[in-house]
Amino acid sequence: MEREATAFAPASMGNVAVGYDILGSALAGLGDRVTVRRLEAPTVRIGTITGRVTTLPTAPDKNTATVALSSLRDAAGVEYGLEVSIEKGIPLGSGLGGSAASAVGAVVAGAAVLPGQWSPVALLPHALAGEAVASGARHPDNVVPCLFGGLQLTRAMEPPDVVPIPVPDRIRCALVRPKRSIPTQKARACLPDALPLADAVRQTAHLGAFVAGCYRNDLSLIGRALRDLIVEPHRASLVPGFADVQAAALDADALGCSLSGAGPTLFAWCNGTSSAKRVRTAMVDAFDRHDIDTEAWLSPVPSDGARIVSPAPIDS
Ligand code: HSE
Repeated sequence: MEREATAFAPASMGNVAVGYDILGSALAGLGDRVTVRRLEAPTVRIGTITGRVTTLPTAPDKNTATVALSSLRDAAGVEYGLEVSIEKGIPLGSGLGGSAASAVGAVVAGAAVLPGQWSPVALLPHALAGEAVASGARHPDNVVPCLFGGLQLTRAMEPPDVVPIPVPDRIRCALVRPKRSIPTQKARACLPDALPLADAVRQTAHLGAFVAGCYRNDLSLIGRALRDLIVEPHRASLVPGFADVQAAALDADALGCSLSGAGPTLFAWCNGTSSAKRVRTAMVDAFDRHDIDTEAWLSPVPSDGARIVSPAPIDS
């Protein structure tokens, strides 16, 4: 058991267009580094917050990392306290799983300084408790891929039933973030409480076909299925230029394009790196035409989730 440990927790994309609140993918190249150290005092507190975002709440009951870590510490039943320091690599309110990454990083690093063996499934409820503080709901579609890596479908949470979905090797994700933020709670407040049955039926067909396309390595089927018919129509107006950017991505041959999580980042799944680069450029140019500054990335769907980076794992 360590006195101090640091975890890297990757960015993630909730919903993946077809599976509101139940489907999510890890993303490469962007993440939070979270350090937890043991304290004499029996408390859980924030140490430092550095990096891309420094204005996070520091009250222990308001910060996603301290809430997640307190929940884990209670479960471990230890007397000593814990301090958590966060180096934010993920912009907040971007739709890239920033709050989930801080919560997941805190429990992964926390598990290394607490007694016992903690599997990702055992850590999941504690990370979800942290995520709920930020978004107002215990939705698993960022926390789960951030913890487990890959593309993950959460069938149920009580008890957790998490299903990894294979991703065809050629899939690359273009991500374009308009430089503004949308709080997840606000984006959730736009949604209706209930759906017409016909819409639920059509979306279920798309989700089933999408998962089948992933298993069959059938990019054409994925392309026909990668649609959000139930949530995107309510949120599109939160992102100026949304319809033009989506059209530009599809014209450039993206398999599908929608909001990453609650937005405002848009993602497009593409067939291979060259296509993803073309799609990314088309999306950035479309935002440009609306005078909106962006930052953009390309990502595979990485199989790794959050991991300890310090102390260095023995096999590295
Ligand atoms: N499923 C969540 C939502 C993801 O769409 O509100 C938030 O990143």
